[in-house]
Amino acid sequence: MVHTISILSLLVVSFVSFLSVEARFAPVILVPGLAGSVLEARLNRTEAPAWYCSKTSKTWRLLWLSLQEAALPVCLLDELAVFYNATTGRYSNQTGVEIRPMDWGGLGGVESLDPSLPQITPVYKSLTEGLKKAGYAERVDLFGAPYDFRLAADGLEQVGFFQNLTNLVEHAVVSNEGQAATIVAHSLGCLVSLSFLTGKSQEWLDKHVSSLVAISAPWGGSVTALKGSISGDNFDISIIPHDLLRPVQSTAPSGPWLFPSPKHWGDSVLVQTGKHNYTAKDALQLLKDLNLTQQAAVYPRVHNLTYPLPKVNFKVHCMYGTGRDTDEGYVYDVDAFNASAPSAPSKVMKGDGDGTVNTRSLEACKELGDKATLKFFGNASHTGILADKRLLKEVAIIATGSRKSGPWVDINTLLQQA
Ligand SMILES: *[C@@H]1O[C@H](CO)[C@@H](O)[C@H](O)[C@H]1NC(C)=O
Ligand SMILES: *[C@@H]1O[C@H](CO)[C@@H](O)[C@H](O)[C@H]1NC(C)=O
Ligand SMILES: *[C@@H]1O[C@H](CO)[C@@H](O)[C@H](O)[C@H]1NC(C)=O
Ligand SMILES: *[C@@H]1O[C@H](CO)[C@@H](O)[C@H](O)[C@H]1NC(C)=O
Ligand SMILES: *[C@@H]1O[C@H](CO)[C@@H](O)[C@H](O)[C@H]1NC(C)=O
Ligand SMILES: *[C@@H]1O[C@H](CO)[C@@H](O)[C@H](O)[C@H]1NC(C)=O
Ligand SMILES: *[C@@H]1O[C@H](CO)[C@@H](O)[C@H](O)[C@H]1NC(C)=O
Ligand SMILES: *[C@@H]1O[C@H](CO)[C@@H](O)[C@H](O)[C@H]1NC(C)=O
Ligand SMILES: *[C@@H]1O[C@H](CO)[C@@H](O)[C@H](O)[C@H]1NC(C)=O
Repeated sequence: MVHTISILSLLVVSFVSFLSVEARFAPVILVPGLAGSVLEARLNRTEAPAWYCSKTSKTWRLLWLSLQEAALPVCLLDELAVFYNATTGRYSNQTGVEIRPMDWGGLGGVESLDPSLPQITPVYKSLTEGLKKAGYAERVDLFGAPYDFRLAADGLEQVGFFQNLTNLVEHAVVSNEGQAATIVAHSLGCLVSLSFLTGKSQEWLDKHVSSLVAISAPWGGSVTALKGSISGDNFDISIIPHDLLRPVQSTAPSGPWLFPSPKHWGDSVLVQTGKHNYTAKDALQLLKDLNLTQQAAVYPRVHNLTYPLPKVNFKVHCMYGTGRDTDEGYVYDVDAFNASAPSAPSKVMKGDGDGTVNTRSLEACKELGDKATLKFFGNASHTGILADKRLLKEVAIIATGSRKSGPWVDINTLLQQA
């Protein structure tokens, strides 16, 4: 009799704990890369660059990226302008323009760039679909941390992003039985996450973060970032003119943060004109020669926000693609740079990388120390990797495996469904 009761109660107890454990994954927080967050704007302007640009909007509306808005780039680019005041050391939006990340904490700001065209502008969509099939749920144990990617870490601090991220991570951990979070970041988001995490105490890290998954991280910068400032980068989308985005790319503080670091490029010539050769060490001179006064002013603040790379005391899983032609240098068909933007480079030197970030920069993950591990995927591209099944599988294993206990999730079935 006694025996029966204890077996019964044991069954009940284990059934109940099975149910409660099943609903409790260790939380995952997604931090996107450059241009990978959805941004919204609210306007109250007295001036606009063209008669057809809106001056006011009562509610927040989609700014980046609305493919419809992008058809009127004059308005979009003016609304995206960001300013730096060297006297106060503070950044500001365009006058009369407010900008915020869409759906903070949820997935609306990180799944796809234009939420009305998710299939052609995916960001983390494949990953969130896979994790949801495994049982993850938005704002329960799966969160998005979109941000104003025009800014470097100093600007993100100013606009309250790091405070927001601290609150989000703490909320995710507390509401999931104290299980530490996995932060998954892509590209620029890896530098943002590194800045965030290195600002935290060891005690906070131990309690809140099980690891950083750093996908396609430009740890040592990238040569393509130089092209963005010099002549503009259309991300190789042929229907976009090469210099369409230059007004933002040549003023945004995140640009010089991503410039190739002198440590990793040494004396290699990265940019050539008739009269001058520029190496990574000459980046400030390059900005001055192009009369990019704002980026020249922010360069001393941002170029070493994450260089030299610190040794970290939290786990980092670096994952990246290799084996794709990646820009290693540019020749511009001008005698010397001046204040007018040159045409696209006449010659592009290529090396190995993920198509956007150079291998030496991706591999600099090693410099983070013993807690960092590297995994590369042949022929995966910088952004295409976010839909690569090899990567999705690794991330799912890390995320679900960091759970304290609970039912086994069959990753292969999960991926076949995704
Ligand atoms: C718009 O800006 C003007 C000043 O330029 C201000 O007086 C007005 O209150 C603002 N409107 C809203 C809705 O914020
Ligand atoms: C920078 O800020 C200072 C102090 O608020 C202000 O006086 C100055 O006009 C600002 N400069 C620009 C270019 O807006
Ligand atoms: C842009 O606008 C938002 C919303 O008003 C504000 O919170 C943020 O600080 C602004 N960004 C900058 C760089 O000033
Ligand atoms: C911070 O979080 C609040 C919601 O709690 C959101 O409204 C705001 O846009 C966020 N700002 C930034 C810079 O992330
Ligand atoms: C720039 O570098 C190239 C190749 O490294 C070299 O051929 C050229 O003479 C250099 N030009 C100047 C102005 O130093
Ligand atoms: C250089 O830029 C400054 C503003 O940033 C502008 O006032 C100046 O006219 C520019 N110089 C040339 C030669 O265009
Ligand atoms: C960053 O570089 C500036 C010079 O550009 C230097 O004054 C400063 O000490 C450097 N900061 C760090 C943390 O290395
Ligand atoms: C500036 O450089 C362009 C080539 O990018 C050239 O055509 C133009 O003549 C130069 N302007 C001056 C004032 O030197
Ligand atoms: C690498 O990927 C590209 C584009 O996705 C494809 O065209 C090419 O065949 C692939 N190469 C290899 C060796 O798989």
